[in-house]
Amino acid sequence: IPVDPFDLVIFGATGDLARRKILPGLYRRMCAGQMPQNARIIGAARSKLTDKGFRDMVREALETFIGKDALDKDVTKTFLGQLHYQHVDASGEEGWADLRTRLDEQPDHIRAFYLSVAPFLFGEIAGRLSSTGIATSTSRIVVEKPLGHDLASAQALNAQLSQCFDESQVYRIDHYLGKETVQNLMAVRFANALFEPLWNARHVDHIQITVSESLGVGGRGAYYDKSGAMRDMVQNHLMQLLCLTAMEPPAQYSADYVRDEKLKVIRSLEPVKPADTVRGQYRATATEPDYCTDAENPDSTTESYVALKVHVANWRWNGTPFYLRTGKKLRGRMSEIAVVFKEPPHSLFPTLPSHATNSLIIRLQPDEGITLRMTIKEPGPGGMRLVDVPLDMSFADALGPQSEGMPDAYERLIMDVIRGDQTLFMRGDEVEAAWAWTDPIIAEWAERARKPQPYDAGGSGPEDALALLHRDGRRWREISV
Ligand code: BG6
Repeated sequence: IPVDPFDLVIFGATGDLARRKILPGLYRRMCAGQMPQNARIIGAARSKLTDKGFRDMVREALETFIGKDALDKDVTKTFLGQLHYQHVDASGEEGWADLRTRLDEQPDHIRAFYLSVAPFLFGEIAGRLSSTGIATSTSRIVVEKPLGHDLASAQALNAQLSQCFDESQVYRIDHYLGKETVQNLMAVRFANALFEPLWNARHVDHIQITVSESLGVGGRGAYYDKSGAMRDMVQNHLMQLLCLTAMEPPAQYSADYVRDEKLKVIRSLEPVKPADTVRGQYRATATEPDYCTDAENPDSTTESYVALKVHVANWRWNGTPFYLRTGKKLRGRMSEIAVVFKEPPHSLFPTLPSHATNSLIIRLQPDEGITLRMTIKEPGPGGMRLVDVPLDMSFADALGPQSEGMPDAYERLIMDVIRGDQTLFMRGDEVEAAWAWTDPIIAEWAERARKPQPYDAGGSGPEDALALLHRDGRRWREISV
């Protein structure tokens, strides 16, 4: 479905995120027929480019990130024709009046401002958009993490934004919410009668949320070393996965109904005990550098791995732990949510395989899909010998061509901004609540000043993370390669 005519201004349009994700995403939406003919994408940045210079840069970005041969000639031509460039000095006077003149040429267009710039500029740009009258009461502003470094800075950022924009105009991106399977988690839970009656502490033994990455931090060490896995991944992406897994069914699938329920989950989180946290840092292998080399900080004590045991202290989840883990340079790239059910109350079969409990695994990446692990009888005459098997559904197989060309997270989210749908964006209070829970964990680590535990690159994470589950008589699911 095409969206209404819009002007999307991308601040930081010559930067990495714009070239790698935002602009290729918009090109793909045009291929899908979703881009109105008179929509305009206006790159805004400090460099003094002409429209032509910007178009050349974007063509190159499309060739690099989509592939020269994969580009459709006609669509590329039309797409580049809808691009414009405006030199703007984010913290000075230059360019703002011209930007306003350009936007005023199309007063009926939806106006959206994507701030793909360093976070310290968010407040400044928001302020100028508002004081110059460029932003109207229906304009939208898009910002992305890091949304603060802790609770105080997140509150300060929210205060700056709210001076210029109403909450209904602010779109805070967490790109995990744009992932197909993350939304599918809500479909699985709330569009099937099968799971919801079992989705509670009476039936669920525990839940594992894993975001395992195989890459290290090489290339972005300067940012990462100040952040660490807790701020980079847990406070936002894993928190969102936890919320969608744990929340109560919202009365409606709409922005504030969903976000209210997520907020309740964050507010129900118990403070995490120090003994329930594990920090790790990858060490060198024969061929690959260690974290400190990648981060260009020989004495770094930043964590590239975190595992946590988390309790959602509410009626539904009392007694069911959520184990979260995420790390760089692990065995494989694998993100999933595994809901592990309790054992049957009475065992008829002495040959029940160990750990043969039902589990529902929602795979975010790679090979998006859902698996239900079940115990069945092994075929053959050997009596009631039982075996644990997967009932497997991959989206690619189940949906065939429909699953191809699915919009990636950024494409979907940008189109939602234009549609004015905030369901998959974080509200300010949610971000603050997440920091309020995260801050004491980080503060305790800083106080203890212990080095993170080393783990082998290409492995499954530090020993202590294994022990975190072992001591509860549980174990992590294997990280697949
Ligand atoms: C980003 C983090 O937000 O998410 C990165 O800053 C991380 O460190 C990335 O690699 C993971 O995203 P995805 O979509 O590749 O799982």
